[in-house]
Amino acid sequence: MEKCARLLMTAAVVVLSLAASATPIGADKVHDLLPKYGLPAGLLPDAVKSYSLSDDGTFEIQLSSSSCYVHFPSNLVYLDSTIKGDLSYGRISNLSGIQAKKLFLWVTVTAIVAHPDQNSVEFQVGFLSQSLPDSEFQSIPRCKSSVACRGAPNLLSDS
Ligand SMILES: *[C@@H]1O[C@H](CO)[C@@H](O)[C@H](O)[C@H]1NC(C)=O
Repeated sequence: MEKCARLLMTAAVVVLSLAASATPIGADKVHDLLPKYGLPAGLLPDAVKSYSLSDDGTFEIQLSSSSCYVHFPSNLVYLDSTIKGDLSYGRISNLSGIQAKKLFLWVTVTAIVAHPDQNSVEFQVGFLSQSLPDSEFQSIPRCKSSVACRGAPNLLSDS
């Protein structure tokens, strides 16, 4: 665990120094775009390099980091460098490129649905779903390349 913590710190230093030198193109815009679609800006991490959105709602996002782990308060999430899906108001469907750690498994998140009346965001994994408070996704999280800790004992509890 101590080794893991040291690796995490090293990763954080690397990420911080990258953040200082790189200017992510389009990153601000994509974080502005989500609230326009009734979704919290903090669903996507800081390391967005570029994105495209077509008229039919199909989008593709490129992350600047090749491995991106995000520690949301109640979930550990892994994002591929390419994320694709269909964006409509309050909903992202046909999603690919996002996995969440559930107990000992990494599962692909297939859809994200906002429920503003319940102040929650629902994550669908196949036919299962989990609703989380939308307050967890108000601020934009930072990508961590904590791949070295992927197999380590649970960093976060799965609620
Ligand atoms: C889902 O996305 C893939 C590309 O990632 C696309 O080829 C496919 O047509 C989409 N399916 C639907 C139902 O939109």
